[in-house]
Amino acid sequence: MADERSEASTQHLTALAAPDALIDWRLALCYETAHTTGILDALPGAPARVAEATGLDEQAVTDVLHVLAAWDHLSIDGTGTFTPGGAWPSGPERLALAGHGTWIRRWATTLPARIHDRTATADGAGAPGGPDPATGLALLESATRPYVARVVEACLDRVPAEPGRPLRVLDLGGGHGAYAREFARRGCATTLQDLPAVIDILAADGRTAAAGVELHGGDAFTDLAPGPYDLVLCGIFTNMFGLDRVRDLLARVTGILVPGGRIAIATWMRDLGPVGAAFGIQMLVATTEGDAHPSGAYRRLLAETGYAGIGVAEVADPPLAVMTAENGAWDAA
Ligand SMILES: C[S@@+](CC[C@H](N)C(=O)[O-])C[C@H]1O[C@@H](n2cnc3c(N)ncnc32)[C@H](O)[C@@H]1O
Repeated sequence: MADERSEASTQHLTALAAPDALIDWRLALCYETAHTTGILDALPGAPARVAEATGLDEQAVTDVLHVLAAWDHLSIDGTGTFTPGGAWPSGPERLALAGHGTWIRRWATTLPARIHDRTATADGAGAPGGPDPATGLALLESATRPYVARVVEACLDRVPAEPGRPLRVLDLGGGHGAYAREFARRGCATTLQDLPAVIDILAADGRTAAAGVELHGGDAFTDLAPGPYDLVLCGIFTNMFGLDRVRDLLARVTGILVPGGRIAIATWMRDLGPVGAAFGIQMLVATTEGDAHPSGAYRRLLAETGYAGIGVAEVADPPLAVMTAENGAWDAA
């Protein structure tokens, strides 16, 4: 198996790229169209042959192919045949680019509806759906790659090690498992909790269990892994819920942390840079209650639910916030 830490990231190809790295929307939409309609699979070929093979309109296929050629994803030979060009994306890059196009369409169709009503669905043809769950996890894992080691370091920096025993870590809403595997690689006794359907995908994939990570399938609001833990990481997780549910979750986590244990919230916060602000729209169109909650809201909820020593680090580029806090609820007992 390839060393996952050395694999290339696709973060720069996603809708959460830094503003100066964000790819052109015209390329993203044409790429997604070519991916989802089978145009890419029908290559190499001239537009007439590709249109015939895919059952698409020849002029539209010609237009899309020329955009991809203009960005060097394709090249055109002397006979008018389109073939992979110098910038032809790899498999993960292809999925990331197509996913980026889908996000543009979700913003364009759902934002106009949700600006009036937080839970409205898009009018007309409706918003495009996301990828299947396993593909979605693979996309997120690929985009997350630049953050994994840095987030884990930021967490471990804040947890006092006890000589003679490994730190007990829960990766809550761990999804693809990259954070859990990195904690395990650094010697932590690690559990990953996610919804049962995601745990099934992880179990089938095998890498996370092979890394020594224990898997716990259950809803974090009703069936939290019992612990106790020295550290609970919530990575791109709290943003999926409204603040009332986040408060509930933070309070529940105090019950599975040891006295003085740490919670770490790694997410995009709207007051910390342009990607954090854009993430608010991602959550607006992708969830019915989530948001890029600002750092002040997290600080307030952490303080209200009994945490102390709240600090925030920003890691990698574009910077992701890692807010950590100590379980102080035991002081009051
Ligand atoms: C955006 S992914 C984050 C994955 C990973 N932690 C990261 O930072 O890249 C959010 C994960 O939370 C999981 N999730 C959503 N609701 C949950 C719940 N109520 N209980 C447990 N996991 C949940 C989803 O299945 C998904 O895998």
